[in-house]
Amino acid sequence: DDHDHHDGNADHELRVSKIQDGTVIDHVHGGQALNVLAILGIDGSEGEEVSIGMNVPSDRLARKDIVKVEGRELSQDEVDVLSLIAPDATINIVREYEVIEKHRVERPDVVEGVLSCPNRGCITTGDEPVTSRFEVLEDGVRCAYCETIVRDEIASLIETN
Ligand code: CTP
Ligand code: ZN
Repeated sequence: DDHDHHDGNADHELRVSKIQDGTVIDHVHGGQALNVLAILGIDGSEGEEVSIGMNVPSDRLARKDIVKVEGRELSQDEVDVLSLIAPDATINIVREYEVIEKHRVERPDVVEGVLSCPNRGCITTGDEPVTSRFEVLEDGVRCAYCETIVRDEIASLIETN
């Protein structure tokens, strides 16, 4: 790796064990790890094997969170929503302990069916099923139906099914 070394220095400081097969979501802004889990629908109740580091030292960010999910690769939809709360995240696909794929998240133009509008009067929050649709702005998201803009509390809009 040409730009940095191990975040937080040498191997002996590795705080969260390596995984065998799955996904490492790295360089998540400090404090967002639980929101990452919410987006992935992980609450531990289904026996998912997950390791989390919170507010660990990082070269690239002052402090970062890291989430390692064993036995799971993420869908593009999940990655798109992750980008809203973790814009600098790196997604690492691990197989047999090796990182076989690494990519940065990219903010999508639109997210559908994953966030719920905070406006109680919005057509998407009524009884008739209307799939939510938010346009992604530089600094937040805007409901495509009622134009409500949410900037800071995006994670709180995540639909928990
Ligand atoms: N990782 C892991 N299990 C593995 C392999 C890697 O948990 N079997 C983790 C590493 O601890 C690291 C991340 O996945 O947090 C990315 O691994 P790697 O690409 O080897 O590290 P870096 O080169 O430091 O990554 P970057 O350049 O993205 O910072
Ligand atoms: Zn709305």
